[in-house]
Amino acid sequence: MTVHQKPNTLQLDSFWMPFTANRQFKAAPRMFASAEGMHYTTVDGRKVIDGSAGLWCVNAGHGRRQIAAAVERQLMSLDFAPSFQMGHPIAFDFAERLAAIAPQGLDRVFFTNSGSESADTALKIALAYQRAAGQPTRTRLIGRERGYHGVGFGGMSVGGIVNNRRAFATHLPGVDHIVHTHDLARNAFSKQLPPHGAELADDLERLVALHGAETIAAVIVEPVAGSTGVLAPPQGYLQRLRQLCDKHGILLIFDEVITGFGRLGTPFAANYFGVTPDLMTTAKGITNGTVPMGAVFASRKIHDGLMTGPESQIELFHGYTYSAHPVACAAGLATLDIYEDEGLLTRGASLAGYWSDTFHQLKGLPNVIDIRTVGLMGAVELSPRKDAPGARGYDLMVDCFNRGLYFRQSGDAVALSPPLIVERSHIDEMVSILGDAIKRVA
Ligand SMILES: Cc1ncc(COP(=O)(O)O)c(C=O)c1O
Repeated sequence: MTVHQKPNTLQLDSFWMPFTANRQFKAAPRMFASAEGMHYTTVDGRKVIDGSAGLWCVNAGHGRRQIAAAVERQLMSLDFAPSFQMGHPIAFDFAERLAAIAPQGLDRVFFTNSGSESADTALKIALAYQRAAGQPTRTRLIGRERGYHGVGFGGMSVGGIVNNRRAFATHLPGVDHIVHTHDLARNAFSKQLPPHGAELADDLERLVALHGAETIAAVIVEPVAGSTGVLAPPQGYLQRLRQLCDKHGILLIFDEVITGFGRLGTPFAANYFGVTPDLMTTAKGITNGTVPMGAVFASRKIHDGLMTGPESQIELFHGYTYSAHPVACAAGLATLDIYEDEGLLTRGASLAGYWSDTFHQLKGLPNVIDIRTVGLMGAVELSPRKDAPGARGYDLMVDCFNRGLYFRQSGDAVALSPPLIVERSHIDEMVSILGDAIKRVA
């Protein structure tokens, strides 16, 4: 048996860390050793409250025995089985269970292994559908500024974060973006959905006028942009986007990789906003973050539109070795059981008001230029230091980590999205640590 080295003898060189300032991190590492419920424990034994559900994924909290037991059982009975021209029952069971909680009509499920794969899969399905529907000129994909759809070439291209593209110098042709909705001048410190900006959806009309609707296959947006700092849509915005997509025969894709599985106090953001997309991408919370998995939910119209041609023919030339991996399906089924038994897909609704009120107590602290919450997502945005965007946010993140709070930093905004088992006392603790740190970090 391999005996792992003690932390103080760890070699840090070989692991090239993702989305990390590697040299800075390795000079002063921040390491988690274990986790239980709402907390991580660091390698030096400190408890750190998990303000971001890991990376927006551990919705039922850490260390869930039920999931561990299901994974072990599955590994010992069927550790792997192919899903290409072969099947295994647990994959069908899991898809049925997912379809049962999906927004109305989105009951066809394609399995992936991550949010990035879900985004690329949804984009490919959209292209294939338009072609099958006799609209082969609809090849253009539209994203939104400040959107994040993972790191595959498709998701990166429709994504609207320039840093994620700059180094790679190329992206898919025929991609364009509508404007983002972040408007501090009109909407800072809104306690509800931002009141101003529904008309920004009309930017799609600009792209239709520029390119022609007959060239556009799909628009992809996060219902609430997560990675760029919790940007909730202005009131009425998503409804308007839906109408415009319908008007122009454009498919609407919601990227619910973060908002899926109870984050807003409803099973999906589509339920929260009362807007149903044609395709919906998910990952993260689908297995409580325990085993990598993702899923794209498609409407019957899209699915059935591709079930054409001879029955012996593969309808969609797409899939991953690990699509519907039996161990991931087992983790997912156990996760759904927990969500249902504990009411976690809707629990956020009863806490959202407290979450919002507590965060808004930070208004007036130094450098705080916005506070925004929706469901159990929240962000506090600080003004950037002169010539050093992101530096204040980074210092705040490190300070909080040292004092027992972990969260995801996004430039000079901090983004929080706790496990959905969070209690009021945890919210108080998070906001208290954050508030003290904001006062300390100049
Ligand atoms: C909205 C959204 N889409 C896609 C992704 C990519 O997911 P993954 O990192 O699992 O590839 C993320 C990750 O944070 C996300 O927030």
